[in-house]
Amino acid sequence: MPATTSTKVHNFSAGPCILPPEVFQKAAQAVLDLDGSGLSILEISHRSKPFEAIMANARQLVKDLLDAPSHYETVFLGGGASMGFHLVPQNFMKPGGKGAYAHTGEWSKRAIKEAKIAGEAVVVASSEDKNFNYIPKGFAIPGEADYFHFTSNNTIYGTQYKQFPKSVVPMICDMSSDIFSRPVNVSDFALIYAGAQKNMGPAGATMYLFNPEALGKTGRTLSPMMDLANHAAKDSMYNTPPVFPVYVIMLTLEWMKSNGGVAGIRKRNTAKAELLYSTVDRLPIFQGTTAKEDRSDMNATFILKDAALEPAFDEMWKAAGISGIRGHRSVGGYRASMYNALPLESVMALTEVMEEFAKKNG
Ligand SMILES: Cc1ncc(COP(=O)(O)O)c(C=O)c1O
Repeated sequence: MPATTSTKVHNFSAGPCILPPEVFQKAAQAVLDLDGSGLSILEISHRSKPFEAIMANARQLVKDLLDAPSHYETVFLGGGASMGFHLVPQNFMKPGGKGAYAHTGEWSKRAIKEAKIAGEAVVVASSEDKNFNYIPKGFAIPGEADYFHFTSNNTIYGTQYKQFPKSVVPMICDMSSDIFSRPVNVSDFALIYAGAQKNMGPAGATMYLFNPEALGKTGRTLSPMMDLANHAAKDSMYNTPPVFPVYVIMLTLEWMKSNGGVAGIRKRNTAKAELLYSTVDRLPIFQGTTAKEDRSDMNATFILKDAALEPAFDEMWKAAGISGIRGHRSVGGYRASMYNALPLESVMALTEVMEEFAKKNG
């Protein structure tokens, strides 16, 4: 079954993942010749005028799309969101201070591990008791913490905050797997960070969007490479930035802008998630693995109640041109990742296979 994107398959990969077809086309063209310059995007200097414009445009688009306050800063750094786990305590925790963390899966576990190296990490909420299948609610955040950190969408387990916590201390969020999927009130956050490789671009760059007024308060001596204020002061070019990923991010953000912005994208994401979850709920051979009210619009996790049917189901979806729906190696089952660029047609293709399989095996 042919997909309606430029890719050959219906790509449900959890990341790196599908990007819009026109982004693939423009990026491929720029590898050969950037805007008729005779030079490839891969061979231009990051100090060149064209790249300075690309970087400035990408940084501004982040703020425009999320309607961020004008004084907020955006930088794109290498090192993955995992480096963000380290940067958070470095930039926000006083020596001898503490960070408050909500623990909702593998990525918060790693963030907490980094915080413990810098100082104290207090787990103020956790869903570990039920294998991270829900989002903790109504928890208290200590007023003496230097910051509160949470993961908006748990990529592996398939849970997502539908309402963000309220915090009197600076709030920091890892939005790696749902950035730009829905509107966010940016001024509630001291820092939002996200690896690019799900909703924003290819692997290799991580976006940091932050309130510069929340920085410089810890008294820590920071390496310039770990100092968000330094990167912002140097327009995200303190060192050589990830040139090609930033270019592809810019293209993807332009695509979002011309497709109804974040509000338009959210509408499409909601339609995709509703179709998939209603199919899981209607067909008795399948079962969702997370609390219904906390189901992620991005990563839908489900199982076949009879695991013995998995090989036959796998054969069927693979034959339908579907890719990437096996669950994370640590949880098994299935995970359909429906990031911004995934068309509704791909979800329709998957749900048709599920219907057909249920008819044969129900
Ligand atoms: C929510 C979340 N945070 C952090 C990470 C780690 O990102 P990276 O591999 O870019 O370091 C991931 C990776 O999938 C993720 O899903």
